[in-house]
Amino acid sequence: MKMLILNGSPHKSGNTSYIVNKLKSKFNQEIEEIFLYDSKIQPCIDCRYCWKNEGCSIKDDMEKVYKDDYDILVIASPVYMYNVTPPMFALLTRLNWIWSNKYFLNKEAKLKKKRGILVLTGGGNGNPQNALDTAQLIFKFLNVDFNKEKDYIYSLNTNNISAKDDKNVIDMIENLCILC
Ligand SMILES: Cc1cc2nc3c(=O)[nH]c(=O)nc-3n(C[C@H](O)[C@H](O)[C@H](O)COP(=O)(O)O)c2cc1C
Repeated sequence: MKMLILNGSPHKSGNTSYIVNKLKSKFNQEIEEIFLYDSKIQPCIDCRYCWKNEGCSIKDDMEKVYKDDYDILVIASPVYMYNVTPPMFALLTRLNWIWSNKYFLNKEAKLKKKRGILVLTGGGNGNPQNALDTAQLIFKFLNVDFNKEKDYIYSLNTNNISAKDDKNVIDMIENLCILC
């Protein structure tokens, strides 16, 4: 079993990473974490390669996501301007070839079924609904099943209580069963 973590926070010891690290310690198997602020994942440039060819023309760290060699996908992001952070949104745009291949070439991407876990953190001054919708779109493109009732951990008042001091967050992490 392999867990791929897309960490969309610029902070390696901030609120999002605190929750991610707790999840990592609950999962004693293979883990690959991509810090999106450090990685090279360009946004889609609408080159239209995928209108006529399978896959994406850009070769960068997104290959690690396309590889589809993981069983659990963790999307972890602070809420910025009511949405996920810019590199996470850039990553979403790089999934557009999946739509284009289907629409223009009638070719379905062959991605295996996987499980999704979502981590969102927010200061408390913005509704996370857009971030939730964006994350769910990433899951959908990548053929990831996401159960919002069981696999969603959020800390949305970090201006007042950091994730590590929030009892609700600690309970959510404890109650999440990664291998169930
Ligand atoms: C550019 C920017 C935009 C933000 N927009 C929001 C927002 O819309 N809603 C919100 O609740 N918090 C917002 N925040 C606060 C962060 O989501 C919050 O501080 C979060 O806990 C940071 O996570 P981190 O410690 O993992 O980096 C914003 C912060 C920044 C820097």
